[in-house]
Amino acid sequence: MSTKTQIFIIGATGYIGGAVLERLLQHHTAPRSEITALVRNAAKAPMFASIGVKTVLGSLDDVALLEQQASESDVVFTCADADHVRACEAILRGLKKRHETTGTVPILVHTSGTGVLIDKAKGMYAYDTIWDDADPDQLETLPDTQLHRNVDLLVVAADKQGYARTHIVLPSTIYDFATGSLVTMGIQNPRSVQIPRLVSASITRKRAGMVGLGLNKWPNVHIDDVADLYIVLYDAILDGRASHGREGLYFGENGEHVLRMVSEKIGEVFVELGVSSPDEGVPTSFDETDYARPENRFLLQLGTNSRCKANRARALGWKPKYTTEDMLKSIRGEVEWQLKQQSSL
Ligand SMILES: NC(=O)c1ccc[n+]([C@@H]2O[C@H](COP(=O)([O-])OP(=O)(O)OC[C@H]3O[C@@H](n4cnc5c(N)ncnc54)[C@H](OP(=O)(O)O)[C@@H]3O)[C@@H](O)[C@H]2O)c1
Repeated sequence: MSTKTQIFIIGATGYIGGAVLERLLQHHTAPRSEITALVRNAAKAPMFASIGVKTVLGSLDDVALLEQQASESDVVFTCADADHVRACEAILRGLKKRHETTGTVPILVHTSGTGVLIDKAKGMYAYDTIWDDADPDQLETLPDTQLHRNVDLLVVAADKQGYARTHIVLPSTIYDFATGSLVTMGIQNPRSVQIPRLVSASITRKRAGMVGLGLNKWPNVHIDDVADLYIVLYDAILDGRASHGREGLYFGENGEHVLRMVSEKIGEVFVELGVSSPDEGVPTSFDETDYARPENRFLLQLGTNSRCKANRARALGWKPKYTTEDMLKSIRGEVEWQLKQQSSL
């Protein structure tokens, strides 16, 4: 049996997971670790092999495979789907088996999101509550029905039962392109979701849009700072400094924005690039035609509130570098990228 630390990563071809894997490969423990990635596109397996990462082929629905792989792992990073209950249950069964057969307490670092904090504002107001990741009593007032919460609760319960040490990273609006060798190699998706969705829906109508009056608020965090957070947390876990279980939730934020700010920036860039005429640079509310488009089915979610402070994450020593100003600056690149894609179709 290998004496190396067995790490299993799920979602390594993704925006977050790829950024985490990139950092794990550079980590000081890398020579003493063996990393296995769940991959559903077989064509990517040789690329992973070339960077020293083993692969298992399968999807999140292959629960027997997930259970088996988790049962052979000391550390599991899940960065694929914050809402896949059966996959989470399978991983936890595997970790329990690991505990029962080895007597060790395996580590889980699960990815959720500050979507767990959302309301139904439809862009019409900002709520006042600031959720604090260092305040488990406050977090436990979240209804179990909140987005992602069903899976998060399974993860916390596993820690309470004692067979796994669990940690949950909850990033907010992650922005900008992921860069790095996994992107260059074509392994990793370099793009996020929320701002690209807003830009895409706005390009279709040739004018920046917002949900309602765009008064709702969300935190934001740069993809490189998110990757750093996972590694700062991993270092703390290895040193025995990281809180876990109900005290092991870590928000990823470095400032917040009002949705309208983002839409106004898109409008400004649209005028500069000739997408909108100068008198149409100001954003307007999306209407029924916009919401009816199949590709815009998640658009209304952009009108929710999610407000928080990453106090626990910062207390670990996490020092995010990029600010809300950087998020706004990144919008031009996203607009240019999407326009280029369209012109090449
Ligand atoms: N991006 C954000 O701003 C953000 C913020 C907070 C939370 N999150 C959450 O973080 C998670 C990952 O987000 P992301 O932005 O990194 O997404 P992404 O770029 O689409 O990556 C998703 C990863 O998971 C894999 N995956 C998805 N479904 C799978 C399945 N059924 N079987 C096997 N692999 C599967 C994908 O594999 P393929 O390459 O094969 O598709 C990819 O590796 C999501 O749950 C998301 O809600 C994202």
